[in-house]
Amino acid sequence: MLLGHEKVSFLHLPTPLEYLPTLSRRLGVEFYIKRDDLTGLGMGGNKLRKLEYLLYDARQQGATMLLTLGGAQTNHGRLTAAVAAKYGMRCAILCIDDYPGEVSANILLDRIMGAEVVLKKSDGRPESEQQDELVAQMVKKYTAEGEKVYVIPVGGSNRLGMLGYYECAREITAQAFEMGISHARLLCGVGSLGTYMGLFCGLRNEGSPLRLTGVAISPFGAGKEARIVEYFEEVRQSLGLSITASRADFDIETGYAREGYNIPNPIVRDAIYEMARTEAIILDPCYTGKAFAGIRDMVAEGKIAQGETIIFLHTGGAPAINTPCHRVEFERELLDGVTIL
Ligand SMILES: Cc1ncc(COP(=O)(O)O)c(C=O)c1O
Repeated sequence: MLLGHEKVSFLHLPTPLEYLPTLSRRLGVEFYIKRDDLTGLGMGGNKLRKLEYLLYDARQQGATMLLTLGGAQTNHGRLTAAVAAKYGMRCAILCIDDYPGEVSANILLDRIMGAEVVLKKSDGRPESEQQDELVAQMVKKYTAEGEKVYVIPVGGSNRLGMLGYYECAREITAQAFEMGISHARLLCGVGSLGTYMGLFCGLRNEGSPLRLTGVAISPFGAGKEARIVEYFEEVRQSLGLSITASRADFDIETGYAREGYNIPNPIVRDAIYEMARTEAIILDPCYTGKAFAGIRDMVAEGKIAQGETIIFLHTGGAPAINTPCHRVEFERELLDGVTIL
């Protein structure tokens, strides 16, 4: 029970907190990584922690089907498919997006795990408007087919989903304490805000000595600026937290989103190569590779001080390296090391 809410436990927690010696030496910082890519089920990732709480709520409501939303290559969709498969539920993933031309990466995994994927090309109107319409249309269809549908918002980022990362904040604080890390900065990628918000509330409300910096992986426009404050208030009130915060309290680096959401970028690929070739840990081009590229820049710019202790949250997402638009770029850069005799 966490702040009055129960969950269905299906993860092997805690995930490891590891020291990365080679990368620490190269960057001149004490570099730790929190392995939330190893959360198990459906190739792992951050969304599973959120889904433990969301699944409990869905089952309380008697749901037979999980329905969620995202881009065509949504990791959250894949992990919703994983949870639905394990708990004998039907699953649909709705995307206002183009078909990427092949059943690969997350879409392949969604289908392997039996989820239905619905893609609707954008007609140019605001995405949320199109999503709401598509959800209404599909819920009507599935209900007529006899399902009781539980709708999970984009990224699982609502007041229940964030509890998974509130819990993770406690977990990291305890692990850091056991490992003798007294003061450190936790860094995570920021997409739909749930991971960051859960960590923020968990660290503050539990009086953790860790500080938190988010790295935005897509442009942090007016919508997100307003949403973060509103989201915090929603969470604070519904959970009865005694902490307060204004926009200035949310430390989010917004300058490392590169060309935008999920757009292939050579600096991000270089960061992926560095992590893989020094520590054999695979990052992804949309979230964790971009966040790590941002961290490298922050070190170079002195925003992260030499000698500072940092903990990078690995939120998963590696299946996305096979997304066609990324894979062609990887192939172009890496083919020279493939010898065909
Ligand atoms: C691999 C990965 N990392 C990070 C994030 C960002 O988490 P959040 O949406 O909670 O901000 C996501 C969200 O989809 C993700 O799939």
